[in-house]
Amino acid sequence: MADEHGMKRNLTQYGDQGFSVFLRKAFIKAMGYTDDALERPIIGITNTFSGYNACHKTVPDLIEAVKRGILLAGALPVEFPTISLHESFSHPTSMFLRNLMAMDAEEMIRAQPMDAVVLIGGCDKTVPALLMGAASANVPAIMLVTGPMLTGSFQNERLGACTDCRRYWAKYRSGEIDSEAVEQVNAQLVPTAGTCSVMGTASTMALVTEALGMMLPGGAAIPAVHAERLRQAELTGTRAVALAQEKITPDQIMTKASISNALRVLHATGGSTNGIVHLAALAGRLGHPIDLPRFDRMGQETPVLVDLKPSGQHYMQDLENAGGLVTLLRELKSLLNLECMTVSGKTLGEIIEAAPPSWQQDVVRPFSNPIYPQGSMAVLQGNLAPNGAIIKQSAASDELMVHTGRAVVFTSLEDLASRIDDLSLDVEPDDILVLQNAGPIGAPGMPEAGYLPIPKKLALKGVKDMVRISDARMSGTAFGTIVLHISPEAAVGGPLAIVRTGDRISLDVPKRRLQLLLSEKEIADRNAAWRANVPRPARGYHKLYFDSVQQADKGCDFDFLVKEK
Ligand code: FES
Repeated sequence: MADEHGMKRNLTQYGDQGFSVFLRKAFIKAMGYTDDALERPIIGITNTFSGYNACHKTVPDLIEAVKRGILLAGALPVEFPTISLHESFSHPTSMFLRNLMAMDAEEMIRAQPMDAVVLIGGCDKTVPALLMGAASANVPAIMLVTGPMLTGSFQNERLGACTDCRRYWAKYRSGEIDSEAVEQVNAQLVPTAGTCSVMGTASTMALVTEALGMMLPGGAAIPAVHAERLRQAELTGTRAVALAQEKITPDQIMTKASISNALRVLHATGGSTNGIVHLAALAGRLGHPIDLPRFDRMGQETPVLVDLKPSGQHYMQDLENAGGLVTLLRELKSLLNLECMTVSGKTLGEIIEAAPPSWQQDVVRPFSNPIYPQGSMAVLQGNLAPNGAIIKQSAASDELMVHTGRAVVFTSLEDLASRIDDLSLDVEPDDILVLQNAGPIGAPGMPEAGYLPIPKKLALKGVKDMVRISDARMSGTAFGTIVLHISPEAAVGGPLAIVRTGDRISLDVPKRRLQLLLSEKEIADRNAAWRANVPRPARGYHKLYFDSVQQADKGCDFDFLVKEK
C-alpha cells in the first residue's frame, strides 16, 4: 500500500492491512468524521502551541485559518501536537532540545497518515527543528511562521525584544538606569504575541525559510497580530493541498542551490549567528553539507542590506512595511539562483518578477549603498579554531576587528557567573575575555552565553565592548566583538581548552585569523596534559545527546540523523 493516500497511508501493523484500515476508521469515526471526509487527502498541521510559549500564542488562530484553507481546497485537515520550545523556558538551553523536537516532528510526520504537512513554527529553534524533521521525513511540507511581535515604547523610545532587552540590562548593570526604570522597560519589551521583533534567530530563520522556498512569498515578515497573517495561514493551507496532489517533496525545494540562496540572505539580512548552525544542520539532513570557507567567500560579495537591529536600527514590522523579503531579493538578484522552485509553484525568479514595484523606503538599502560592505558573518580559522569559528562582523566594533590582548579565562558558565561582577577581578579593557566549556557537549547544548557581560568593574567605567571568545552561541539579538562557535569545543579537547589567563590571543577579522600566541611546543605540552572532565550522562535524552551531537561546524545535529551518502 505504498502509494495509498489519506487514511490508508502509514498503516499500523497488525499483519492484516485490511484490518488495519478497518480499525483505524473505527477509531477516527469517533471524532465525528463522515466517510466522505475520510476519503479525502489528509493535511497534517503541527500544533506547536504551548502555555510556556508566547511566541506561539496565536497558533490556535493560525490553525483555524490553515484548516479553512485546506477545507476550501477539498482536503481534510488534522492537527497534531509536537514539542514547543521557547527560548526563555528551556533549561539548560533550547538548543539542547532542538534535535529532540526535530526527531519528534520527523517521526510523527512519518508515523501518522498525512499527504502533506503544514509546519507551524516561530520561536528560534522551532523553525529549524520542523524543517529538519520534514527534510528527513520528506513528505510534502510547507512552513508557516507565527510572525514577529510589534514594538513597545519606553519614554518615547521604541523598544523590541531582544536587542533592547540586552541594551537596557547593560544600562542597569552600569548604573545608568535604576531598578524602577528597568522594570518599566521589562513591561514594554514584549508588547504582543509573536517572535522577537529584531533580526534575531526567529526573524532570521523566517526570512531564510522564505528564501529557501519552503514558505509562501511574503510569509516571513507579516506581524503576528495582523489580519494578513491569518490570510497567509489560509493560503498556506490551500497550497498544502496542491503540494500533496503534485507530490512536491522537501528535497525538491531544499536543494544545494536554494541552500546557497538561504546563505546569501543570511549574510544580507545581518542575520543571527544561530542561522549558520541551523542551516548547517538542515543541509546535513539533505546531503548538501555546508562548507564554512565557502560561506565566508559568499559573505565577501554579499553586503548587509537590511537595516534592522542589532546590526542596524529598524524592526521587523518596518521590513514588512518596506515590502518584506522580496525587496531584499530584488537587490540580491544577481547573486541568487533564480531557477529554484518554491512551495508556491513558482521559481524564486518568478516570485521576484511578480512582486509589486518597490517604493521609497529606508529599511532595505540598495546594493550600491549597503549598511555593511560584506556579509554579516565572517568565518575565522587558526590554531584556536581548527574547524572554524564565527564572528558577526556587522555587529562588532571597528576598532577591535584587529586586536591582540591578554586572555582572561573563565573555565565554565559557573566560573563566569561567580567572578564577572567581582570588582577585584584582574581585567583591563583591552584584555580578551575567554569562556571555556560552553559548547555543544560542555554546557551542554551550546547555550547563548557567548555574549559575555562586560565585567562590572569595567562597565561602571563606561566600557561598552571587548573581544570575547568562546565555544558558545550568542543570541541573534546581541551585538559586540564576539567570536563564537569555536570548533572543536573545549570539552572535547579543542585548543580553547588549553588557554590560560595571561596567554596572548590575536584576532584579525580582515585576515580571518584567530591565533593563540604560544610556541608549538607549549601547545603540544598542554595538549598532552589535557584530560576530559565532562562526565558521560547515565540515562535519558542527555545520554543520547552526549553520545551523538556533532560540533558547531556541522550544525550540532546528531550524527545518526545526517543523510547517508
Ligand atoms: Fe521566541 Fe525570541 S524568544 S522568538
